[in-house]
Amino acid sequence: MHSFHYSQGSLHCENVSLSDLATEHGTPLYVYSAETFRDRYTRLDSAFAGIDHEVAYAVKANSNLSVLRLLVSLGSGFDIVSGGELYRVIKAGGDPSKCTFAGVGKTRAEIEYALKEGIYSINVESEEEAAFVSKVAVEMDLTAPIAFRVNPNVDAKTHKYISTGKSENKFGIDFEFIAGAYERAAKLPNLQLKGLQMHIGSQLTSVDPFLEAVEKVTPLAEDLKEKYGIEFFSIGGGIGIVYEQALASGKESWWTDQSEEDRPLTPEKYAATIIPSLEGLGLKILLEPGRFIAGNAGVLLTECLYEKKGSTKTFKIVDSGMHHLIRPALYQGHHEIVPLAEPDGNTESVDVVGPICESGDFFCQNRTLPSFMPGETIALMSAGAYGMVMATTYNSHPLPAEILVDGDQVKLVRKRQTFDDLVEAEEV
Ligand code: LLP
Repeated sequence: MHSFHYSQGSLHCENVSLSDLATEHGTPLYVYSAETFRDRYTRLDSAFAGIDHEVAYAVKANSNLSVLRLLVSLGSGFDIVSGGELYRVIKAGGDPSKCTFAGVGKTRAEIEYALKEGIYSINVESEEEAAFVSKVAVEMDLTAPIAFRVNPNVDAKTHKYISTGKSENKFGIDFEFIAGAYERAAKLPNLQLKGLQMHIGSQLTSVDPFLEAVEKVTPLAEDLKEKYGIEFFSIGGGIGIVYEQALASGKESWWTDQSEEDRPLTPEKYAATIIPSLEGLGLKILLEPGRFIAGNAGVLLTECLYEKKGSTKTFKIVDSGMHHLIRPALYQGHHEIVPLAEPDGNTESVDVVGPICESGDFFCQNRTLPSFMPGETIALMSAGAYGMVMATTYNSHPLPAEILVDGDQVKLVRKRQTFDDLVEAEEV
């Protein structure tokens, strides 16, 4: 299922022409498909239907209030990493008792806020944090539900900046120390040992590291259930998506989804591989997908301003850049680039670059793309996760607007920033 396709010569999101949206709302513009969000959530949820589980969407991937509201309506729980994300979930009508709170550096104010709102679990990443949560809970005269995050020391085989499950990463408690951490936390006042959590990394395209981690940690989960009565085991997020499409020559194939058999990882394959290790546990299994749900649900539209032919390269200079989609600059991330007008088969090798005063400000380098000229708008595909949430106003460019499409309905879910918005909090 793919909600972005060419129809009558122009790229559409569901039933809406992206050129029409660019004309009406301007560029740069993020556009999301409600249908894709629903499809991804439902597919993952159904793949785990055979066991007690909950999908806790990782808010960090895309935290627009309307996106969160859509997920609330589907019954999703949420994995949050800050007080701000909890605030967003509550604003969107989400239930804090379906939220887990992760992250290595929670502040007192954030812990107090989460406890006051009745968070399902604070996922603690060090023994020092457990002692602090206990202290805060005593002061507030309530019991804090916690889980420790275990670092299973498994190689996720992904980009080093989004790999989290090796002992050299800052995340979680080393596997060999985790039993002791529970033992000591059990003696601390006002803590309820509610679960166990892990997350080995993001954009995993093979199921093997997931299986390795699950097989390594399941006996620990079993033991903790027996000793402390924990009720959940969160296996984190990390399911990778397809960023690189097979761009065959035919017109219709500019943006077609890879066939199921060719996909390295599907929710069904993921579930079928790990469920056998999890089903006997008698624990609620939590999933924390971010990218899998949001990634292919969004595109970033940007207009080509100039073409500059250098002695060695052709630069297509566009009105968006690393300040709005930092993944190419930060992780060598690949996003397919397609013109909104259906390609006629002509291609050229180009660098697509933004206006930011940094040489790292590019969307692609030396890539063969369908030809497009200044004045035309292009789409950066698979930009629904870790796109707008990582956008900045660097070089004082206002943030883009965001649109949510549902069938033929169009909703502006975030207004474009103005110059006044940029300086609103500042004083002369
Ligand atoms: N749970 C925890 C504890 C996490 O740290 C993360 C992601 C997730 C779940 C969701 O992972 P996902 O299903 O989205 O892979 N900005 C980077 C990705 C950073 C991921 C950080 N943690 C990127 O653009 O590739």
